[in-house]
Amino acid sequence: MPRTDTAGPIAPPATAAVELAGVRVTYGTAKAPVTALDGVDVRIHPGEFVVLVGPSGCGKTSLLRVVAGFEQPTSGAARVRGALPRPGVGAGVVFQQPRLFPWRTVGGNLRFALARLGVPRAERAGRIAELLERVGLPGTAGRRTWELSGGQQQRVALARALAAEPELLLMDEPFAALDALTRERLQEEVRALAGRLGTTVLFVTHSAEEAVLLGSRVLVMAAGPGRVVAELPVGLDRDPETDVAALRASPEFARLRGRLTEIMRG
Ligand SMILES: Nc1ncnc2c1ncn2[C@@H]1O[C@H](COP(=O)(O)OP(=O)(O)O)[C@@H](O)[C@H]1O
Ligand SMILES: [Mg+2]
Repeated sequence: MPRTDTAGPIAPPATAAVELAGVRVTYGTAKAPVTALDGVDVRIHPGEFVVLVGPSGCGKTSLLRVVAGFEQPTSGAARVRGALPRPGVGAGVVFQQPRLFPWRTVGGNLRFALARLGVPRAERAGRIAELLERVGLPGTAGRRTWELSGGQQQRVALARALAAEPELLLMDEPFAALDALTRERLQEEVRALAGRLGTTVLFVTHSAEEAVLLGSRVLVMAAGPGRVVAELPVGLDRDPETDVAALRASPEFARLRGRLTEIMRG
């Protein structure tokens, strides 16, 4: 954690990375409305890694979509760094499925993203190599996406989200479809990457284990209507160089995972 110097009681509050105030999201028709979120207040500080957990249908994806700017709150307010969220601006998004263009190569998928971001043509190849290096896929720019495993495809999706060098990364159950070992590897890499880059992350999962390993704070949601019902601060070591295997085996990790499981069961 970076040390914060307090400039005294008159210091203005730092701009939140994400702020949701009284957010309500209603789908459906006026006659048959579905209230996905109601009364959601969330404030995330720059550099925090916040994990959302909760049962299916409690509005986790809706909350992420509001922060990404894909969805407008029906009422209430959403701000990212003090501004209205806009799709493709300010936040990188990774979904459960990698959603790559299957007719493009790995490099082609990234080149498309970089072009949309306005990165000059001459810089794109270098940036692609750098991004692939960062997600542990060096030298794969020429590969076809369908030749890659699910975990590798998800790494490409992460590289694409990182292309904009976002201050905020939104991840919606990104590892849910992966096998256990691949999931563990990617958890460790995302944890280290976010720590090294200082990226603010909002991450959705069903897994108490994943939540406690990754999050500096866990928000527990409940359905009917979707809202945040509990919060668990996670005081585990956040150093990106930490031995994660030792962390997973620690009594404090087991205690936090147990506590979160209890809260999630209500
Ligand atoms: N586009 C949509 N149209 C209508 N209802 C929706 C839509 N998206 C989500 N919902 C409903 O909103 C609620 C919350 O969904 P969602 O945000 O996807 O929850 P979660 O990600 O926690 O599973 C659910 O009841 C879901 O059926
Ligand atoms: Mg969802």
